[in-house]
Amino acid sequence: MEQRTPVDFTGKTVIVTGAGSGIGRAAAQGFADAGAQVLGVGRRKNALEETAAAHPSITVHPADLREATAAEAVIDAAIGLRGRLDVLVNNAGATKVMPLAEITSEGMAALFDLNVTAPSLLARAALPHLRATKGSVVNVSSTYGHRPLPGASHYAASKAALEQLTRTWALELASEGIRVNALAPGPTESEALAAAGLPSAAVEQIKRDEASRIPLGRRGTPVEVATWILRLADPSTTWLTGQVLTLDGGLELA
Ligand SMILES: NC(=O)c1ccc[n+]([C@@H]2O[C@H](COP(=O)([O-])OP(=O)(O)OC[C@H]3O[C@@H](n4cnc5c(N)ncnc54)[C@H](OP(=O)(O)O)[C@@H]3O)[C@@H](O)[C@H]2O)c1
Repeated sequence: MEQRTPVDFTGKTVIVTGAGSGIGRAAAQGFADAGAQVLGVGRRKNALEETAAAHPSITVHPADLREATAAEAVIDAAIGLRGRLDVLVNNAGATKVMPLAEITSEGMAALFDLNVTAPSLLARAALPHLRATKGSVVNVSSTYGHRPLPGASHYAASKAALEQLTRTWALELASEGIRVNALAPGPTESEALAAAGLPSAAVEQIKRDEASRIPLGRRGTPVEVATWILRLADPSTTWLTGQVLTLDGGLELA
């Protein structure tokens, strides 16, 4: 059994997007274990319900974050839980293999709508409530938000945008006591590769290749990554803002 961080979110309300699988599921369950009331967001209701089955403090909110009205509805649902919002975790995201020769405007727009626009609209809608609690935002980027990724340049660019939003919002909101940080995981066991539409043989090959390039010799687990989302959001982490923490078994250095 992996260990989680002993952080305390008692009385806090936390939104985790992409809570129906992988890193988001582990984060939602981690926040709930640490005392938070959690709103888990994603498109698949049944996947969210599987996440929520682990803890009575997780409420599900099925929504497609690419839809224009989704952000306001998510924040309203969170405020409906206990009348407050302390943490927004922008974790929902997608990856896509899309070499330059094969890009389409629809493919690029779909990536940016989910990885850049949705976190922005959620943060905007959350802002009055985060001001009230002096809360924080954690954006989930990727090692490839600051390393090139041949064959998936627009995924990498969307995460680079999220990292720059993180630094800029941190400065913009610092005077209001709102902290904004990002976590940049390396290759982590989740549904991300399958969700990108890759056949299972290709997924297994990519996983083997990634593990062989990671200095610590393996891909990460969702709980290992979620632990650091909790640490960045931890109300006792009072002086950390505008940072992008890479968590990738040393891949960034290799
Ligand atoms: N796994 C990795 O190797 C890795 C590495 C670096 C960064 N990351 C980042 O980590 C984050 C979490 O990914 P993961 O690895 O845990 O992959 P995952 O299991 O595929 O999780 C992504 C989540 O986002 C949700 N989602 C996708 N499209 C959505 C939409 N339009 N509206 C609402 N929710 C949506 C999915 O749920 P539904 O399909 O039900 O909507 C899913 O639960 C992503 O931002 C990803 O880019 C992952």
